[in-house]
Order: sequence, then C-alpha cells, then structure tokens
Amino acid sequence: MKGIILHGGHGTRLRPLTHTGPKQLLPIANKPMSQYALEDLKNVGINDIAIVVGDIYPEKVKEYYGNGKEFGVNITYIYQEKPQGISHAIRLCKEFVGDDKFIVYLGDNVLRKNLTDYTKKFSSSGLDAMILLCEVDNPSKFGVAYIDKEDSLKIKNIIEKPKNPTSNLAVIGVYFLTPKIFDIIDNLKPSSRGELEITDALQLLMDKGNKIAYDIVTGWWKDTGTPDDIIHANRLVLDSIGTEEQFLVEKDASIKDNIIIGNNTEISHDSSIIGPAIIGKNCKIRNAVRLGPYVSIGDNCILENCNIENSILMKDCKVYAQVDLSSSIIAHGSQIDGGHDVITKSHLLLGERTHLKL
Ligand code: G1P
Repeated sequence: MKGIILHGGHGTRLRPLTHTGPKQLLPIANKPMSQYALEDLKNVGINDIAIVVGDIYPEKVKEYYGNGKEFGVNITYIYQEKPQGISHAIRLCKEFVGDDKFIVYLGDNVLRKNLTDYTKKFSSSGLDAMILLCEVDNPSKFGVAYIDKEDSLKIKNIIEKPKNPTSNLAVIGVYFLTPKIFDIIDNLKPSSRGELEITDALQLLMDKGNKIAYDIVTGWWKDTGTPDDIIHANRLVLDSIGTEEQFLVEKDASIKDNIIIGNNTEISHDSSIIGPAIIGKNCKIRNAVRLGPYVSIGDNCILENCNIENSILMKDCKVYAQVDLSSSIIAHGSQIDGGHDVITKSHLLLGERTHLKL
C-alpha cells in the first residue's frame, strides 16, 4: 500500500499564522500536525508516501520532511499549483500510486485512533474504497454520509457540506482507495466552490456499482480549520501525553504528571507548571511564570512573569510581560513585552516574528 498526504490549500481562516507557511506545518503539542498523519501511515507499514504540496511556501514542507529518511519513510513531492480540490490532488498522484491500494490522509486532520484495524480490513477486502465516519454536532461543515435504512452496512449517499443534513456522520479526511478512483475523477465536474470534491468522486464510484464500505471512528477526530480548532486539537493531544509514546517529542524527554520537558530547559524555583503540558528544549522559564494546563511551548523560548494556559507558543518566542494569556497561538520568533500592569489577553493570534508591546 502507498500513502498520500495532502499538504496544500491556503488556510485563510488561520491567517496571520498561514501568511508564512502551510497550515499543516502548524504545531500541535510541538509537532507539525501533518507529522501525525505521516506517523499514522508509517505505523501501518506504509513506506512510500507522496506529499502533495501547494503554493504556500512548499519549500518549507520539503525542508522539514526532506526525503523522509529521518522519519523512516520515502517521500515523493507532488505539486498542486492551485487549490482545486482533494480529488484534483489525488489525480496528480496516479503515476506514484501505480497499481497499489492507497490511503489519502488530509494533512490538517488529526485522529486519535491509529489506522491498524481499518488498514487490515481494507487490504484484505475486495473493496473499491473505504471511508471513515465520525459523529459530529455540525455536519453541514463537512462531507456527510447517509446510511441505507434497510441495510446498515451500506452507504446510500455522500454529500459535500449539505445545508440541512439529516445525518450527523461526517466523512473524515482519511480515505482508503484503489486506482479505480482515477478514472472516476476524470469524469468529475468542479463543484460550486470550483473544486473537484472527494465526496463527488466517492458518490460517482458508488453510482457505478463499486463497493464502498465505512467504519465509524471511536475516540476523537479533529479537522483543524480555525485557530480554535488547533487549540482544541492541542488539548486533545496533550490529554494523551504520558500515556502514549507516539506523542513524545524526543525519545529521552522526561514525563512527569503529563508534563514533557525537553533537554536543557531551565525552570526557576518560583515558576510552576500544571499538566498536561509540553515544553521544548533550551527554554528558560523564570520570574514566577505559571504555565498550564494545556500549554505547548516550542524550543528556545524565554518566558518571564507571565501566566499562560490553553495556548500554543511556537519555537524561539519571548514573553517579558505580566500577561495572563489564554486560548492563544503565538507563532515562531515572536516577542511580547509589557509594562508594570497585569494585562489579560485571550484568543490572541500573532503571526511569525511579531513584536507586541502591551
Ligand atoms: C474536506 C472534504 C470534506 C471532509 C473534510 C474533512 O473539507 O471536502 O468532505 O469532511 O475535508 O476534514 P474541506 O476541508 O475542504 O472544507
């Protein structure tokens, strides 16, 4: 089997964070979110992975993943010049896939459960496709599957973002496919948003009499379209640290009460950390800092005087302010300075290398 990670798109709802890089490289618990996809694929024995990159700093994706050796896989990069839809991106991978079965993983989806059972089921079956569904409160934001009332194993319809959905089963961004999908995509027409939709491809595949099965995912699944989604995903992943090795940043990181601290990080005696939390390496945390719960701090950060909870600070950030920060995302290399007053900030978003004086 082969794997495809979709790494394109403009991530407009995540600006300013996506002005300087693709959204799939934004970190969740100090790891780019697409790395969770890569590790999920690797863990089911997939070694050949294509990453479809878009026009937002694709070189940053290449710089991070390289040829894949460091991650134990072989990576092929495929360019999608404009975001023209998931099916369009898949079609670009026809040559890469050859005659193999394959899994397409959207690089902005994060899934709690590993893919082992689903992959076994699909690879030993004669299925033409398999999708994963998850019950959600807001189905109109996703592709939605309708299950046949007479035959609960059968999918009746798959519709992209229906206005008045009568099913709460969202189609999540992990698709098990065979090369049959390529001819189907060749017959697709762009949707109202101008994209070749994966949901339309799956519907057409079913209409032509092919066999599609589904499974319902247990545990959480997160599509990280907005800053709040990322902060929520960060909480969900941090809830699992200390119990699941796959979430460790470094092999030798120490785990204490659901707190991971990287090498060489100094924490002053008057500072405190409430887990779950993750702190990278070479950080300096001093002058009565309070961190947590649900905080991810990247490498090389210097924090003084601040209280931070439910937030993400990427690497190389500095905070020298009496600020109470919550539900915020601060991108690489940013600095926050303050005066003598304590200032409360919630839902703050700082793009890369921003200098904020409070
Ligand atoms: C895409 C798919 C949609 C699916 C979702 C999962 O939506 O089109 O069917 O439910 O990913 O994340 P998009 O993120 O392009 O709006």
